[in-house]
Amino acid sequence: MADQEVYRGLKGVTVDVTEASFIDGEAGKLLYRGYNIHDLAEHSTFEETTYLLWHGKLPTRRELEHFDSQLRVSRTLPPEILEIIRLIKSAHPMDVLRTAVSALAAFDPDVNDNSFEANIRKGIRLTAQFPTIVAAHARIREGKEPVPPNPNLGHAANFLYMLHGKEPDEVSARALDVDLILHAEHGSNASAFSVRVTASTLADMHAAIVAGIGTLKGPLHGGAAEAVMAMVKEIGKPENAEAYVKKALAEGKRIMGFGHRVYKTEDPRARHLRKLAKEMGERMGQPEWYQILTKVEEAMAPLREKGIYVNVDFYSGSVYYLLGIPEDLFVPIFAMSRISGWVTQVLEQWKDNVIIRPLLKYVGPMDLPYVPIDQRVEAA
Ligand code: ACO
Repeated sequence: MADQEVYRGLKGVTVDVTEASFIDGEAGKLLYRGYNIHDLAEHSTFEETTYLLWHGKLPTRRELEHFDSQLRVSRTLPPEILEIIRLIKSAHPMDVLRTAVSALAAFDPDVNDNSFEANIRKGIRLTAQFPTIVAAHARIREGKEPVPPNPNLGHAANFLYMLHGKEPDEVSARALDVDLILHAEHGSNASAFSVRVTASTLADMHAAIVAGIGTLKGPLHGGAAEAVMAMVKEIGKPENAEAYVKKALAEGKRIMGFGHRVYKTEDPRARHLRKLAKEMGERMGQPEWYQILTKVEEAMAPLREKGIYVNVDFYSGSVYYLLGIPEDLFVPIFAMSRISGWVTQVLEQWKDNVIIRPLLKYVGPMDLPYVPIDQRVEAA
């Protein structure tokens, strides 16, 4: 076992095959089920993209209408879940989401049915209920009553409606819709891998999704957008950006929203978020956030030779901010999108399941004598 090779962080290790997304990290290319992310961002909706990911094909009009209507009727939460949210309202929104989804298992009629059809039904319910959980919690913690979902609104528009209590304009709803499309699926990222590990033991969909939510929370994965916005606020003015970046790098710190395990060129999703950040900033009369972000991007140019470019999270935080979304909801919004990819990964894992169980190389002491407790000495 001494010559056992170790692949820390599973870097570069291919663990299975997928038909869900294709990522070319050198070319900066991302396809969902063969369709380029740029086409989907321009022409699709989150609902249609989710159908595509789960069923492997673009829906016909009739199929999409049926799928969309199922999502719309599944948005309401059982009153018990609202009670739980009230009880834990002071927790981080990701913890509330994780707890609420875990509790939803108790109310799901299909919880123990792992058939494809039941998983689609559970996927629809979870995808529809994520925004209701996030918006209800955001209002409850502010001492307001949750706004019931509006079945006349699409998925993205309804979230903004439930959050703010008023219907969003079309541009805002479309901005969120595009953001949800862009974050929906991304191969074996950390949270999707967690989801697959849990699914691979033949646990249920809710268990797998709860694992995904837990993994997404960390700042090296889903938490980067929130950290980017905190950085932008700290920088304050475009003219401070260069010095801020230089100082941070000199101190060995990472600049959030840069670098990616797979992309060694610009993340293709960043293009659309950059455009939205610019447009939304101008529209809202707050161009300074975009200006600061561009200056940070310029200051980071020397790191391009190491393959460090902007990732999906660099511009998304400012889009959320301009949509009036509190910063600690940025990761839950990522989850509201990535639920689509997580369900895809569960479906794919169970198509041809194998338990995911890698090895660890033992590097500790061997064959120590067992010392009885009253003969052990305290370390000095
Ligand atoms: N700022 C400055 N330097 C960086 C950054 C960064 N954001 N990212 C990587 N580097 C440097 C590292 O210091 C390291 O330098 P070294 O070789 O001189 O030691 C080198 O680039 C390679 O970095 P690794 O951590 O080995 O790369 P890895 O593939 O393991 O990490 C990760 C990828 C975690 C995304 C990393 O780039 C990072 O921490 N980025 C900031 C957090 C972030 O934006 N996360 C969101 C990712 S996108 C997503 O999850 C949706």
